[in-house]
Amino acid sequence: MKNCLQELQNEFILSIQELVEISRGFKQEIDTALSGKPSSLPIVSYALNLPNGEETGLFCVLDIGGTRARASLIELQGQGRYKILSQVTYGFRDPQRDYTLSAADLFDFQANLIAEVIENCNYVVNLGYTFSFPCKQNNLNHCQLLKWAKEIKTPGVEGQDVVKLLNLALQRNGLADKINLVVTINDTVATLLTSAYSDPNTDIGSIIATGHNSCCVQKLPDGKGKIINLECGNYTGIKSTRWDKQIDLNSQGPGEQLYEKMVSGQYLGELVRVICLDLYKKGLWLKITKTASWETPYSLESRHLASILHDNSYELEKTAGVLRENWGITTPGYDDLRLIKDVGELVVNRSAQLIAASFAGILVYIDPALQHEHTIAIDGSVYENMPGFAENLQKNLYQILNVPSGQISLRLCKDGSSIGTAIAAAMIAQTPAR
Ligand code: BGC
Repeated sequence: MKNCLQELQNEFILSIQELVEISRGFKQEIDTALSGKPSSLPIVSYALNLPNGEETGLFCVLDIGGTRARASLIELQGQGRYKILSQVTYGFRDPQRDYTLSAADLFDFQANLIAEVIENCNYVVNLGYTFSFPCKQNNLNHCQLLKWAKEIKTPGVEGQDVVKLLNLALQRNGLADKINLVVTINDTVATLLTSAYSDPNTDIGSIIATGHNSCCVQKLPDGKGKIINLECGNYTGIKSTRWDKQIDLNSQGPGEQLYEKMVSGQYLGELVRVICLDLYKKGLWLKITKTASWETPYSLESRHLASILHDNSYELEKTAGVLRENWGITTPGYDDLRLIKDVGELVVNRSAQLIAASFAGILVYIDPALQHEHTIAIDGSVYENMPGFAENLQKNLYQILNVPSGQISLRLCKDGSSIGTAIAAAMIAQTPAR
């Protein structure tokens, strides 16, 4: 067992030198993509300024992510303050209520969520739409889905303008005269705007959740800034292990979103599952008859992994509980529990290290001599809830850049993916028509 752990450590723990190399490659890829050459980063630019904190008003936001859909009614109060007045959230990958069977189902479901939160509004409400998948955007009212990510499969949406599909659903559901869809943006952009609303040093936004991606402020020659969504989940410059390759091969889109598959919540538990299964096949983990349920892909979710990593009990009882409830394994030995926890720690640690390297690359792109203070705004369940993740990310980032702590702040922006879209809607609604 000791040897196999050593082998895994060699594959999963990256030295600071290796991370510096990765960050350089990442920065290089941003330069390549922005110069218009072929690149694995399908960058999207937004014609949006940064907020000044004085944007105000009441807005509805529909936020569609990898596992849940959320509609909120948000009041922006100015001076960087906001209040969520009402909110409804549904997981749309619950087998009991599958809204993702057809495009019409998916968009009718979204229209109904909006209807729920604007129920008591007796005026036309401006709507902002957070749509968090790889898209092509010609303007803030157009958003063509290039491909699904995060293992979503709903047919009939790829290649379509989701703004159009949502507007059609609003019409079908009698909401067209109650709602005015004014802006559609990515969740990373919304997170950046949320933090920038009260902190002018913010120049990177990131989501570390079911999916992963970052955006940043591109400095233009005239000194102004433009927000660019890097879609960095599709980055291809990182060496993968055989388990990463296996997950990619069996995924919804082999060859796509390779970096996201190494770091994001959709895949962390799956990586642990395939590694443990591999160890089992070699006789190095669990001396039991294989249970059918652990053959099921994605049967170890990142929330299960979080419980395992949280488990500091003497007998690793929570870890035993995850194995029992998920996979029907009732007789693991202490060494088996310890090993799955060690594997989980390695997989999660690599994710934090790789994301730190990408942040370092983005920071050097924005500020080559690292002269300024920066805030990185982050939203997402993995960053917020995975034990040790946030600390690890910060530690690695400081080591890669060799900067004093304090020059770069990492800021958790809870609900950032919704609030920032209300801010974007306010900026659009308050811009006088030309
Ligand atoms: C999508 C990005 C999104 C990220 C975080 C990725 O799968 O491609 O657009 O920002 O997930 O939700």
